[in-house]
Amino acid sequence: MRHLIDPTDLTVREIDEIIALAEDIIAHRAKYSEVLKGKKLATLFYEPSTRTRLSFTSAMLELGGSVIGFSDAASSSVSKGETVADTVRVIRCFADIIAMRHFKEGAPLVASQYAGIPVINAGDGSHSHPTQTMTDLLTIHREKGTLEHLTVGFCGDLKYGRTVHSLIKAMSRYAGFRAVLISPDELRLPPYMLEEMRESGLEYREVKSLEEAMGEVDVLYMTRVQKERFASEEEYNRVKDCYVLDTEKMALAKPDMIVLHPLPRVNEITRAVDNDPRAAYFRQVENGKFVRMALIYSLLKWAPENRPFDQTPVLAEGLEVNKHTCPNPHCISSTEDVEQLSIGNRCAYCETLL
Ligand code: CP
Repeated sequence: MRHLIDPTDLTVREIDEIIALAEDIIAHRAKYSEVLKGKKLATLFYEPSTRTRLSFTSAMLELGGSVIGFSDAASSSVSKGETVADTVRVIRCFADIIAMRHFKEGAPLVASQYAGIPVINAGDGSHSHPTQTMTDLLTIHREKGTLEHLTVGFCGDLKYGRTVHSLIKAMSRYAGFRAVLISPDELRLPPYMLEEMRESGLEYREVKSLEEAMGEVDVLYMTRVQKERFASEEEYNRVKDCYVLDTEKMALAKPDMIVLHPLPRVNEITRAVDNDPRAAYFRQVENGKFVRMALIYSLLKWAPENRPFDQTPVLAEGLEVNKHTCPNPHCISSTEDVEQLSIGNRCAYCETLL
């Protein structure tokens, strides 16, 4: 059973194939309009969403399938204390594939151990957002014609920004990738990401101002400072307006640079920038539907016909059961009775260094 919990669950070849399939879907929409007739997607959203949930829904409907699920965990039996593990063991009786967004980091990994059907991580806390990454990769490919030899500037909330973590992981597998990390000290990338980048020999530099990076980047990835992730309002207020992309700063950029943003935005990109043809963030939203169509179709194609009920929990290869307790209070292992698992020196659920 294949799941998409982390961008590295797909090989580079598979990512390239999914991007090619999304391009084919864009070019030949009618060809795919009934390919998943009779199949059901369950969207389990424990955290708010506009783009991800609706693009998953739209994607499944455009493939001829149907959609069940919830957009507010309070309306489900989660509000009675039902665990992620039990929830997905129930959902697999009703659906063929699950897209899950959860405020706890690692919740979709737990779901994948119990579901018996493919599970797609639609964003877990501050950790990872692989389908946004697939959206970003398709957009970069369509706009720049390649995923290789690109310098990408990541600006804003690099600490809690799950879309940033996933995109760096994915892009670092393509030749010639360079990262420029633009953030205040308080919002630097988490230690596990910096360690991974150092160990893999990735070329990156950290800067404090947008102006320092504007002239060198091929792609500028703006992010929102996420109020909901901060421990206190005071902490949030200190950094909330740290970067604003405006037309003056756009004038410093290359003529073929593109601006991406996973959205929603607050005030980090002024409305005037929307009129610049290099602002690709609304084109990026539409690509999200097509790449999710390609993903759902591929995961269901790869899934075995018969899904046994007695195989719980199924642990992914390479994970070790250990006695370390993850120190991250936002990790699913802090609230759900799961095996303590690690990959090397990291928690398998949230990647916090143990
Ligand atoms: N980019 C993204 O994840 O948006 P939503 O939170 O609206 O799904």
